[in-house]
Amino acid sequence: MSKRYTITAALPYTNGPIHIGHLAGVYVPADIYSRYLRLTGNDVAFICGSDEHGVPITIKAKNEGVSPQDVVDKYHAIIKKSFEEFGISFDNYSRTSAKIHHETASEFFKELYDKGEFIEETNEQLYDEKANQFLADRFVIGTCPKCGNEESYGDQCEKCGTSHNATDLINPKSAITGNAPTLKQTKHWFLPLDKHEAFLREWILDGHKSDWKPNVYGQVKSWIDDGLRPRAVTRDLDWGIPVPVEGAEGKVLYVWFDAPIGYISSTKEWAKQVGKDWELYWKDKDTKLIHFIGKDNIVFHCIIFPAMLKAEGSYILPENVPANEFLNLEGNKLSTSKNWAVWLPDYLIEFPNQQDVLRYALTANAPEAKDNDFTWKDFQARNNNELVAIFGNFINRVVVLTNKYYQGIVPAPNAFSKIDLETLDEVKAFPNIISGSIERYRFREAQMELMNLARLGNKYLADEEPWKVIKVDEARVQTIMYVALQIASALATLSEPFLPFTSSKLRNMLNISFEPIKMSWSDITSKNILIPAGHQIGEAELLFSKIEDDTIQKQLDKLIASKKANEAASKIVEPQKDTITFDDFTKLDIRVGTILEAEKMPKAKKLFVLKVDTGIDVRTIVSGIAESFTPEEVIGKKVTVLVNLAPRELRGVESQGMILMTENQEGKLVFVNPDDSNTTNGLQIS
Ligand code: 2FM
Ligand code: ZN
Repeated sequence: MSKRYTITAALPYTNGPIHIGHLAGVYVPADIYSRYLRLTGNDVAFICGSDEHGVPITIKAKNEGVSPQDVVDKYHAIIKKSFEEFGISFDNYSRTSAKIHHETASEFFKELYDKGEFIEETNEQLYDEKANQFLADRFVIGTCPKCGNEESYGDQCEKCGTSHNATDLINPKSAITGNAPTLKQTKHWFLPLDKHEAFLREWILDGHKSDWKPNVYGQVKSWIDDGLRPRAVTRDLDWGIPVPVEGAEGKVLYVWFDAPIGYISSTKEWAKQVGKDWELYWKDKDTKLIHFIGKDNIVFHCIIFPAMLKAEGSYILPENVPANEFLNLEGNKLSTSKNWAVWLPDYLIEFPNQQDVLRYALTANAPEAKDNDFTWKDFQARNNNELVAIFGNFINRVVVLTNKYYQGIVPAPNAFSKIDLETLDEVKAFPNIISGSIERYRFREAQMELMNLARLGNKYLADEEPWKVIKVDEARVQTIMYVALQIASALATLSEPFLPFTSSKLRNMLNISFEPIKMSWSDITSKNILIPAGHQIGEAELLFSKIEDDTIQKQLDKLIASKKANEAASKIVEPQKDTITFDDFTKLDIRVGTILEAEKMPKAKKLFVLKVDTGIDVRTIVSGIAESFTPEEVIGKKVTVLVNLAPRELRGVESQGMILMTENQEGKLVFVNPDDSNTTNGLQIS
């Protein structure tokens, strides 16, 4: 029976492009689910938009010396384009800077305010005296009171997921100036979560124990069991939606108050465009509301937003919140600041028109129950061994042979063998198997079953060998190709949620995109004929192509470059030493010398005993470079020598000067050479 669904996908912050972690965690699963629901005849509103308020945007704007509006305009366009390019089939993609959103969020706040659902309180908040600003959310970093993570933000610890008030942080520091904040009085409006605790306990802990994912249920239970406290839903910031009540000048709504309301305003925007009633999608008790999010958003979608909806009173609550865990990349956490990511715009430059390959690899490795790792080798293997070797190979054989033997016309079958009938029966079972997994949010499993259908087709052709049988029994080949074409048709429909570009190409190839053959999900089970004899199909087109090792190596090299750049950037740079006078400097007698001999100092790992021609004389210098060079590497080398340094005895050898050395950007010891440009840091005594 057809049902109405409101499917939301977390609104991405518009402070950077989208990467594979976002796709795998939220947008691909939400898209598979929405496409599946549409294909099975449901009424779906798949809703998203850009999250354009909040501190991450302000920080980015400050760093780039532009306005927050410039930042959100730029990334809203980039993100929207990426979603379109990857086939994320939102019915509407809005933005929280839109007028309709400002109005909706303001009205929502006002409604709760008028109903007395907030506590108004003046208390002390963290303040940065130097920046002249209150510190909330990502403007303040400190130790998480729950897990001890020293880099927790003011509103949430990304390590343990706990949501807290900025004043809960231990040793807080301003992210703007690095200073320890002071406390300053300010007025805010608080949502008393404690007041909603009993309802949340009953609704989630009693009502959704068995149907919500264990990771989601577990987190929610732990928060509720810890006891809920009032949360401020306003901020002293200048970027955001002004608090729409008197006495709130200079204050805006907390981004996590306005962002989820973005789902509602985006639905309103869409409904207006298509002539629907938005309220049916948010207020009708028969509508199913599903939030797709990453695990760091659980508290906001399972506790704070439902408490807001409940307090307002006329909204439905989510039926499920299938949050995913995190995706790592080549063993490390995805990180925007460290450029440890695969950005979607970059992916498409390297792999044009191969969106489905990424969708497939990400779903095959989706972090559904635990954090998971994306590796380029796995991506290559998924493409070459599964998409090319199984799915693509099967379709290619079917279409090429149908064209070769029958000029592209589906042949009429003759008597079916036992294996034909069993195969056709197996095909009929797939829609229900795949549905069962999708409806339990098990997209990896669902996609694996889709590939099993392609495997079935591949095996069927490999066993029946029409290319051999054609020489001896043409009538039998008609039946084989007819059966294979039924499997190909089923694949064209069942692959649509997972591989939308491939499905579309395949439907074109089989000429089943349009009437008279239009197939729905359930037809595959209920109909005996999916593609009838006499139907004309098109020419073969390659669905996937092999990805070579050097293409993968190029991607790995990019990551190695990021890693090196991060290591260099994270190296501790020694602070500059005290200033010396020009007279001090002129006392140094620095000359170019040549190393004539080099020997390791016995029992001293670090030291070389060198003979150096200084141009004045040949003298002995003891230098601490033995761990960085071999004697052979330094003999004959021109070096810079401080020749008037007072002699010093080192392990019984008098050193009569000093070779000048420094460290390059990778932290490697290098000579300060007359002919070497590789020296960047201050001089170092060796
Ligand atoms: O974590 C994030 O990227 C947030 N911008 C998600 C917001 S989801 C919602 F509530 F809008
Ligand atoms: Zn923590």
